[in-house]
Amino acid sequence: MANPFRFGQVVSGDLFCNRKSEIKQITRDLTGGQSIVLYSPRRYGKTSLLQAVSKELRTRKILYGNADFFACNSSEKVVNAVSRATAKAIIDDLKSIEKFVKRAAQIFTRARFSIRYEPNGTGSFGISPEFSSQATSIDSLSDVFSGLNSYLKKSKKRAVIVLDEFQQIISVNSNLEAEFRTIIQQQDRVAFAFLGSRTQLLKDMFSNEKRPFYHAAKIMELGPIETEPLAEFIKSRFKKIAVSISDDLALKIATRVNGHPDYAQRLCSHILDGLETKTVSEGFIEQGVSRMLSSLTPSFGGIFEELPLRESQVMTILAEHGPLRTFSNKMLQPYDIGTPSLHKALSNLIKKDLVQKGKGKEYYVADNFLHEWIRMVSK
Ligand SMILES: Nc1ncnc2c1ncn2[C@@H]1O[C@H](COP(=O)(O)OP(=O)(O)OP(=O)(O)O)[C@@H](O)[C@H]1O
Ligand SMILES: [Mg+2]
Repeated sequence: MANPFRFGQVVSGDLFCNRKSEIKQITRDLTGGQSIVLYSPRRYGKTSLLQAVSKELRTRKILYGNADFFACNSSEKVVNAVSRATAKAIIDDLKSIEKFVKRAAQIFTRARFSIRYEPNGTGSFGISPEFSSQATSIDSLSDVFSGLNSYLKKSKKRAVIVLDEFQQIISVNSNLEAEFRTIIQQQDRVAFAFLGSRTQLLKDMFSNEKRPFYHAAKIMELGPIETEPLAEFIKSRFKKIAVSISDDLALKIATRVNGHPDYAQRLCSHILDGLETKTVSEGFIEQGVSRMLSSLTPSFGGIFEELPLRESQVMTILAEHGPLRTFSNKMLQPYDIGTPSLHKALSNLIKKDLVQKGKGKEYYVADNFLHEWIRMVSK
């Protein structure tokens, strides 16, 4: 039985559920030249959402490029990712790699691009940008964007460039944030979508008046998917392989994961693993949750083990007793934590997006299933 659920990777087509109002809003903003910041916890669907938006943009003849900074740990890699995204946007617009190769030397002053076809015969290709060894990252970025700008001017078009996991540039080089801002500010034909899952870092970049990107884009938070459409989606995915599930149970799954799309698909996949009949009944849900929590042990364990002792202790207290507005002595005593250490640990955990402070000033573990996993392992 083929598994109709996908998780941990970008999804599109019938693996992508709803997000209609978000697609509409983001398309409207970017089409109008308004740059946006889109943040959410991990795996809420930012990258998939922008991919859905890209289809809308292409029908409006807007160029689209996507640079992912996730694994960029040097200025050079950041420059290369942006250059590749820009080249790809122009290649898509020209609908021809050959035309791009011919025109690249006129479009860009410093950047040179070599195209390498993958040997798999599918026509897929890789783009390797090259700059002179003396060019600084700011020179190279300026060149790439002025090339894009001149192409857009000539063709009377606009472009959208997505910079995914944008907060990564802070850790690469302390000057890059200001340099990037200077260049981006000069782009009147390009709207940017800054995406990221380190929500505290990203929000601070765009809302702290001392930072270069202060108020440089419209800030949007991507929330969970509404439970009704998510339940519909779950039902239709099960139906794909002739497994039936009642409306009630589909809604129960959507609610159990709080509308988190990745956990929804992950949980359903684990439910399916234990299914011996063609109908999902209630007992399968919690069995699926247990299997999902076990399979998440490597990643949750990794997060937990990397924490300094005090922070892991505070996570355990929150998982066992949270949400908490105040921490009683009885909770703190077994760990011998004093008030200053507690506050320091909480503030660090918030910075790392592991703990959130709710509207009622209560602290809680941000990821529900990490919360459940800590409870499970600390029993
Ligand atoms: N609209 C959607 N419909 C159904 N599933 C979705 C949707 N959006 C995201 N998902 C689920 O979430 C997973 C992660 O999606 P995606 O990579 O787009 O999220 P992300 O927020 O960019 O994640 P990351 O924080 O890792 O960058 C997908 O594999 C899929 O299981
Ligand atoms: Mg992503």
